[in-house]
Amino acid sequence: MPGCEYKQFRIMQATTYEDKYGKVLAFYRDLAALVRPARFYDLGCWQGGISALMADLGVPAVAVDMDPAPLLEGYPGVEFHRDDYMGSADKYLMMIADETGPVVVLCDGGGGEEAKLEQALRYAPGLRVGDVLLTHDFGEVAESGGTTPARLYPAMAALGYDRLEMDGYDPLLMGLSMHVRVRADA
Ligand SMILES: C[S@@+](CC[C@H](N)C(=O)[O-])C[C@H]1O[C@@H](n2cnc3c(N)ncnc32)[C@H](O)[C@@H]1O
Repeated sequence: MPGCEYKQFRIMQATTYEDKYGKVLAFYRDLAALVRPARFYDLGCWQGGISALMADLGVPAVAVDMDPAPLLEGYPGVEFHRDDYMGSADKYLMMIADETGPVVVLCDGGGGEEAKLEQALRYAPGLRVGDVLLTHDFGEVAESGGTTPARLYPAMAALGYDRLEMDGYDPLLMGLSMHVRVRADA
């Protein structure tokens, strides 16, 4: 399985980077430093490795999955919700609305192109200016999930999002599409 390891967790983020382990971890470290999120929302967290990493970087995390995430039990800085992030989307959007600083929301529930679009577009309208939405599996290369961003990008732009660029990273190589909300009136 492509991806990387963090502590005893597996992280599914695929990458064509040569240093696929270190680069994924470095990406989240640099993202945390750039955005300085008040909280990280990990929607479809699987084992929860990225939430654990973010918590260790000082960013508290809300991790959601319909399946149990035993490695997250009692993990400092991570609040695990065994829940349906679609059915309970209003609840998580209300939590986000109450945050005192920017959030990063990672949509990685998988399930094919329609499900990926549905997840991103369920959350995107509810985020605030300065919040960041990351979606996984929107890379243009097969190893990154291969889902075309052709429908996602215009939809995000119409909702007032710009693509977030980070020096030193081409997030598409990790299968990640990054969007920062710059207008909420769209
Ligand atoms: C691709 S995995 C996430 C991998 C993780 N982000 C990582 O990189 O390690 C997708 C996860 O989303 C969860 N999932 C899918 N649909 C869901 C839903 N509606 N509500 C909650 N979890 C869901 C699945 O149970 C699965 O664990």
